[in-house]
Amino acid sequence: QISTVSAAMAGKGNYRHFMEKEIHEQPEAIAHTLHAVLDSGTGAATIPAPLDAATIPKITIVAAGTSYYAGLTGRYWLESLAGIATEVELASEFRDRDAVLPEGGVTIAVSQSGESLDTLMALRRAKALGQKTLAIVNVPESTIAREADGVLLTRAGPEFGVASTKATTAQLTAFCSLAVALGRKHGRLSEERAAELRRALAGVPGRVGEVLQREAQYQRVARELAHSRDVLYLGRGLSYPIALEGALKLKEITYIHAEGYAAGEMKHGPIALIDEKMPVVVLAPSDGWFEKTASNVAEVRARGGRVILLTDAAGAERLAEKDDHVMILPDVEPVVAPILYAVPVQLLAYYAAVEKGTDADQPRNLAKSVTVE
Ligand code: G6P
Repeated sequence: QISTVSAAMAGKGNYRHFMEKEIHEQPEAIAHTLHAVLDSGTGAATIPAPLDAATIPKITIVAAGTSYYAGLTGRYWLESLAGIATEVELASEFRDRDAVLPEGGVTIAVSQSGESLDTLMALRRAKALGQKTLAIVNVPESTIAREADGVLLTRAGPEFGVASTKATTAQLTAFCSLAVALGRKHGRLSEERAAELRRALAGVPGRVGEVLQREAQYQRVARELAHSRDVLYLGRGLSYPIALEGALKLKEITYIHAEGYAAGEMKHGPIALIDEKMPVVVLAPSDGWFEKTASNVAEVRARGGRVILLTDAAGAERLAEKDDHVMILPDVEPVVAPILYAVPVQLLAYYAAVEKGTDADQPRNLAKSVTVE
């Protein structure tokens, strides 16, 4: 019974914080989640009800906090791989809004704990609006899991750090596997392409392990981040929600003001803030958005901003300049890159908290599971 394992019983092992331990548990959290969602015979993800319907006019994802950002990433996958119209809503807004949803639509509630009150209320609201519902949760016996029509379990294991880490990458893994399976079912992906993506997913635990082996570099850069007043995170396309997640992580556990922005929106506001004191963390895997992100990086440099570049070897070759902090991540199929790039933003936030001496596991004013209004 996962939820009855107490933090004290679980222990931190040799780690200083649960967050550090949970960051390091990600290769197995991702592997277990893949194992649970993939059919051992065919290697394809099993599509849970109600997503197994012949047609799905629309998917509405509702969630809060980090789970909301996992949902935003899920939308990119569900649209591009499966061709299903998808919207993502903050549960706290959706629950009190007059949403107009199509008959036969499916609402997915995403929650680590399965107990966030807003997400539970959003799920009930979706039901009242005639939607079929699916829960993507990490706690099998949670209220959200019990009330949804179908459940897709992430297998991250119990998570105690208030800032979610391994549950997030498990949620991303579940979304991506599901989108590949739906893409196959609805004829949007060829078997060859689906098999390629499944292989890429199977390789993610190993690539995350490689990122973790190189954590000393994140520790060094985090020391500098820890002394900043404001930090901007930029990403485009699949990296955009991870930029939002990076900023959330940093502000949650270090109390440094951080904003995540779609790189293309920088010119509509945050560019005004950039000066030599402002670190800008740029998520730029070599993907279809890379060139455009590169031009945004040039705009940051032109204003004296300090660039912290998260990219792969080819991206570094094309984009890095001598004053940048460059963190090179392993090469991966761009579709699965968000799962990998979620890890360095956790490491930057975690080591910045260690440097500042804030409590990464129990940040002030925050709770692991918010069950109040
Ligand atoms: C709180 C936690 C976050 C979490 C959010 C949603 O704010 O501090 O880490 O992402 O709730 O929680 P859930 O359990 O629904 O994913």
